[in-house]
Amino acid sequence: MKEPLSPIPIMEKMVEKLMLAYPDHDRKAEGIIQFHLKHNNKKIDCFIQSDFENLVLNEGIADNPTVTIKSTFYNWLDLAGGKLNPILGVISGKLKFKGDTSFFKILPRKSLNGEVLVPEDPVTRFEKNPSKYWKKPQKVIVLSASPRGQNGYTNFYLKPFIEGMRKKTEVEIVHLNKYQIKPCTGCFSCWMNTPGECMFHDKDDFHVLAEKMFEADLTVYAFPIYADGMPGILKNFFDRSVSRAYPYMIEGMKRVRHPRRYINNNNSMVVFSICGFFEMINFEPVRTYFKALSHNRHTPVVGEIYRTTAVGLYGNPFTYKKLNNILYALENAGEEIIDSGKIKRKTKRIISQKVVGKKQDLVKINEWWNEKKSSQDNNY
Ligand SMILES: Cc1cc2nc3c(=O)[nH]c(=O)nc-3n(C[C@H](O)[C@H](O)[C@H](O)COP(=O)(O)O)c2cc1C
Repeated sequence: MKEPLSPIPIMEKMVEKLMLAYPDHDRKAEGIIQFHLKHNNKKIDCFIQSDFENLVLNEGIADNPTVTIKSTFYNWLDLAGGKLNPILGVISGKLKFKGDTSFFKILPRKSLNGEVLVPEDPVTRFEKNPSKYWKKPQKVIVLSASPRGQNGYTNFYLKPFIEGMRKKTEVEIVHLNKYQIKPCTGCFSCWMNTPGECMFHDKDDFHVLAEKMFEADLTVYAFPIYADGMPGILKNFFDRSVSRAYPYMIEGMKRVRHPRRYINNNNSMVVFSICGFFEMINFEPVRTYFKALSHNRHTPVVGEIYRTTAVGLYGNPFTYKKLNNILYALENAGEEIIDSGKIKRKTKRIISQKVVGKKQDLVKINEWWNEKKSSQDNNY
């Protein structure tokens, strides 16, 4: 379990950073900086010993310190981090020095972090305005993430949408439930030990699927709402995608994100989701999720399709006509997205239209569940 670090390990980390910059500095520096620090009413005595090549932190009191610093631990951190000017620190009484203060020349004057080469991956014009710079996708991947795969309602509503897209371009459908994606363990080896490669690289199917999507211009993420979010198999897939970014942080659109390791500036995505409840608000958690994901992956969401009451609509004689209109609109949506990088408002309105929602509908739905339970019919 991780606990907050206490002053001595923090000082050790600081000395490690100083060591990185140390060879650039005055090699004549040899001596001892003694600290008498106070933190939470406790006294901390420690000293940094410098011997031309190394800096070492010791606890306790040194025999002949070159310079002695007396202050609170926080004031010392402010001084070392450049937030507290040493002269002002002395004048205000926050810091007390004794001995040869010129010895501080061993402290590097430049940034302790040194220079890091961060790969460039700026915001693209396509990301900012995908429909304006839309190019007809050559290849589309549909990642169908219902744990019930081809037998689910997600697949039922997806079919006409895919048909529509197929009239315009090549579409491949991948049922995620047929693949094995191990959950991310948070080990960071994909960033630190084997950059870009998860430790499960050859042990499951993530890599193969991620490559497929990278090469496609458009990916459709299709899934049912599970417990107000997406099914675990899809979330596992997204968690593992962290291996495809660098750990560095860069500016994005109004917030910070990681640069991508593999760049295809034509990638875009469509969110396609269905749920059992009646109200569109049930999709809000995943809408927010995909907005964030889209930004962090530098990949615009060009279309969103949400269908409530997915189960209630199916096989119900009283909603049969509406269902057919919805399926027809889904096919149109498929064509529209490929042609223009967006779905017409009218089409979306038909797809997401309200079909039930009155109190008496609840009675009918609850009767339906009871009938299913007593008839041993597994088709739900
Ligand atoms: C574990 C589980 C959790 C669900 N949670 C929700 C939910 O939070 N909100 C909702 O509207 N529907 C929920 N549903 C209903 C599904 O979204 C709905 O049955 C959908 O049609 C299932 O799609 P599928 O047949 O492709 O699996 C849930 C279903 C399951 C199995």
